[in-house]
Amino acid sequence: MPSDALIMTLDQGTTSSRAMVFDAKGDVVAVAQEEFTQHFPKPGWVEHEPEDIWTTTLETARRAMKAGEAETGGKVVSIGIANQRETVLVWNRETGKAVHRAIVWQDRRTASMCDALKAGGHEDMVNSRSGLTIDPYFSGTKLRWILENVPEAASLAEAGKLAFGTVDSFLMFQLSGGKTHVTDETNASRTLLYNIREGCWDDELLKLLKVPRSVLPEVKTSAAAFCETVPEWFGRALPVTGVAGDQQAAAFGQACFHPGMVKSTYGTGCFLLANSGEECLTSTNRLLSTVACRTGAAPQFAVEGSIFIAGAVSQWLRDSLQIIKSASETELLAQQAGGNEGVYFVPAFTGLGAPHWDADARGAMFGLTRGTDKADIARAALESVAYQTLDLLTALNADGFDTGRIRVDGGMVANSWFLRFLADVTATTIDRPDMIESTARGAAFLSGLQSGVFDSVEALEALWQSETVFRPSMDAAERKVLVTGWEKAVKTTLYRAQ
Ligand code: G3P
Repeated sequence: MPSDALIMTLDQGTTSSRAMVFDAKGDVVAVAQEEFTQHFPKPGWVEHEPEDIWTTTLETARRAMKAGEAETGGKVVSIGIANQRETVLVWNRETGKAVHRAIVWQDRRTASMCDALKAGGHEDMVNSRSGLTIDPYFSGTKLRWILENVPEAASLAEAGKLAFGTVDSFLMFQLSGGKTHVTDETNASRTLLYNIREGCWDDELLKLLKVPRSVLPEVKTSAAAFCETVPEWFGRALPVTGVAGDQQAAAFGQACFHPGMVKSTYGTGCFLLANSGEECLTSTNRLLSTVACRTGAAPQFAVEGSIFIAGAVSQWLRDSLQIIKSASETELLAQQAGGNEGVYFVPAFTGLGAPHWDADARGAMFGLTRGTDKADIARAALESVAYQTLDLLTALNADGFDTGRIRVDGGMVANSWFLRFLADVTATTIDRPDMIESTARGAAFLSGLQSGVFDSVEALEALWQSETVFRPSMDAAERKVLVTGWEKAVKTTLYRAQ
């Protein structure tokens, strides 16, 4: 492989599409990013226009590729995809046209369907096969909702012309000019339809959710020959050789290759993954079991804690309350706030994920006085992400993991105030790497391993560098007061008795 070979990652996230071009040293040489519209048609519903997902992906990819090749004189040789997980797209295989807007992972419309499944006593069966809990977060009930509520979907399914996919699958269908209907096992493992222990779509789960097998994509491991793009998109055919759900991609980009290693990514939500190696562990503390990226023959697993709102809380302060102009302002505001002042913010805009799994909880602020100002609210917003991480670490610890030190990444970790507070309130050493876009890097690693740009996982491990280590320095009594306030706030917010 020539040393000027480049890899392009398509990082299709919840609020924006981003393309990044990496060189053979794993460094970023070009980036293009575009936010797109979020649709909230009813309380608790979140949708994306499939066309927006596709056009922002294609546009950013073209821009990044042009810039990266011009900057380095090199050539993009392969593509990696990392994507928002669980989001459901359903389209007509013949026309490529989606039959409904994408139903986003944050969408809660299937809460009552989930309640009925739980009341029917299916939780243990679902958990033991899929590693997941019954919650609207996952794809399965959203797909069921489309099959039941979109007449065209039912008739196309009957005729064998309907295709279901997560975002990776939809993008590859478009990129390949409709030739490929495929996904990877990390994305499949988030659908509620995939047996993670056996590594296949599961007949019992398909029967439970009344999903016809004919709509499902073929499943491959994360570093594989997925498809070729049609020349129309990038001027030449390019192979897609690495695909993973964004959180598993981030764990790979953080070089969490060994059992026990933990990463926490702060994007729209926060997702903490602990590598459990070849062992598919079952949490006894309401965490998930999920498939991690593998490059060898043996399947790899992780235990995951999922928080639905992290960076999205700053976006809400910016777009809905309009008390800041950009997310980066929260760092200065939090410093100005001086102390916690008894203000707590539980950002349960789309329910609460792990460890509560309460789809009907809604956001709330506590402890407001006449003196509360936007600095206090910004601080409480950042604090809330740290407290939620603490809840995940506590659960992970109870599951037997050593949570003394974790690696962090994602846009929000540029905020050093947040990481200092996170270290303090969780009493954990926080390691921020020099490259915080671990999601995109992880997909580039997967793609480059398959296309021959990178030699081995060991070579990738050597590319990971720590930039700053944040050590806890808060005294235990102060921590206890803060955490007790948070626990009270969450308890008040919960809709379902725990
Ligand atoms: O499971 C949802 C997750 O994949 C979303 O990721 O980066 O958009 O917060 P992100």
